[in-house]
Amino acid sequence: MEAFQCIKTRRSRRKFLAKDIPAEIIEKIIDAGRCAPSSENSQPWQFFIVKNRDLINKFSQINHKYNKDAILSCNLIIVICVDMEKSPISFVEDGVLASQNMALIIHDLGLGCVYLSGHKFNDIRKEEDIQKLFNIQRKFKPISLLLVGYPDPKEKLDNKILRDSKELIEYR
Ligand SMILES: Cc1cc2nc3c(=O)[nH]c(=O)nc-3n(C[C@H](O)[C@H](O)[C@H](O)COP(=O)(O)O)c2cc1C
Repeated sequence: MEAFQCIKTRRSRRKFLAKDIPAEIIEKIIDAGRCAPSSENSQPWQFFIVKNRDLINKFSQINHKYNKDAILSCNLIIVICVDMEKSPISFVEDGVLASQNMALIIHDLGLGCVYLSGHKFNDIRKEEDIQKLFNIQRKFKPISLLLVGYPDPKEKLDNKILRDSKELIEYR
């Protein structure tokens, strides 16, 4: 898919088909993540691939109830973490940029995903719960989680109205 077309047509998907995601597809997604820019080229990421149904079910219980159905429906969770020793200051940006690279390639490959926050400045317990559940070492801060799967074509997407670009820009 052409890059701009990919950016324009990507939407968050929260309903997935019960279809396994091949290892080659997961490798491509990870490849896209590791190509992201990072502070001082630290490449501080650690990506945790979760396909284990029991862990996915358990994650649905510790996350906000609003996300429960999407979590239970997905076939793969990618926990995008940043090594705090490699990126002690810009960890959020580093994690988010890799996440967006992945979200775009996921869409390009015909799959879908939704972004969930792994890290909240006012809630340290959230990341601790994620680290505990997925057995993630302390130094790897979970920044985001992508719920991934083949999108269910029956999912009704809301009609997203983009803000007018004129509203978003100021010339100086
Ligand atoms: C920081 C962040 C946190 C988000 N958290 C959630 C979430 O908890 N649950 C969810 O369903 N979607 C979540 N999303 C997805 C947004 O709801 C979605 O991107 C937004 O509604 C725009 O829709 P689109 O992705 O289809 O363009 C999150 C997105 C971002 C960037």
